[in-house]
Amino acid sequence: MDLVPGMVELARATLTEAGHNPNRVSEGDVIDLSIFPDESFDLILSVGVMEYLRPDEECHAFAEARRLLKPDGLFLVENINKLFDLTTFNRFTINFFAEHFIPAFFDSETEKDRVLGKLNGLVAYPERPDPEGKYSTTRDEVYTKGEISIEYARKVCDFGFEQIEQAFYRFHSVPPLLFEEEPDLETVSIERELALSRHWIGNFLASGFIAVLKKTR
Ligand SMILES: C[S@@+](CC[C@H](N)C(=O)[O-])C[C@H]1O[C@@H](n2cnc3c(N)ncnc32)[C@H](O)[C@@H]1O
Repeated sequence: MDLVPGMVELARATLTEAGHNPNRVSEGDVIDLSIFPDESFDLILSVGVMEYLRPDEECHAFAEARRLLKPDGLFLVENINKLFDLTTFNRFTINFFAEHFIPAFFDSETEKDRVLGKLNGLVAYPERPDPEGKYSTTRDEVYTKGEISIEYARKVCDFGFEQIEQAFYRFHSVPPLLFEEEPDLETVSIERELALSRHWIGNFLASGFIAVLKKTR
């Protein structure tokens, strides 16, 4: 299912090409899946979608997934790993400090700004990646949200799910800012990805993770 007709067409064409029934893809919003009956799915996959949902929409999407899943069904959710921002050494790292660390220690806005200014001075290329080129990003322009991998199990409890597994992917052996001048560092990151998918370093070096969820009773 996808919200955008063009994406639905693309998915249908891909299915047809692979010899599958294209009508398995429908157009619609994940916050309202009322076309499907209760407990009718063994597995629900969400790849690259949750990050675009605002908190109220996300709440509806989880409620729908809970309604649609059979009691022992699985919900696989792919997420952006917010903790990865700590190892990007750019504006995203500063933003992470501003959102999660600085408020825990400083109350005055002036002091927060002063400390953040100092931190900013430690970062050599805060503006990179820019919106152009191979490692471009549209994160500053499009609403997306990441999840803190080590907090996710607790978060999904509130939606009536239990996290039974987490796997990391899109590993970065070093901050991706270095990939442009040293492409081998990107190659080695990809080569080790599968071997490291359950390693704790994924919390910091992987930009994505997949959570395997089951309904709580
Ligand atoms: C990064 S793409 C992923 C596409 C596809 N799931 C895949 O794995 O290749 C994100 C997709 O989420 C879709 N999307 C965003 N919000 C949605 C919503 N509320 N309901 C359904 N689809 C949505 C967008 O239209 C876009 O096609």
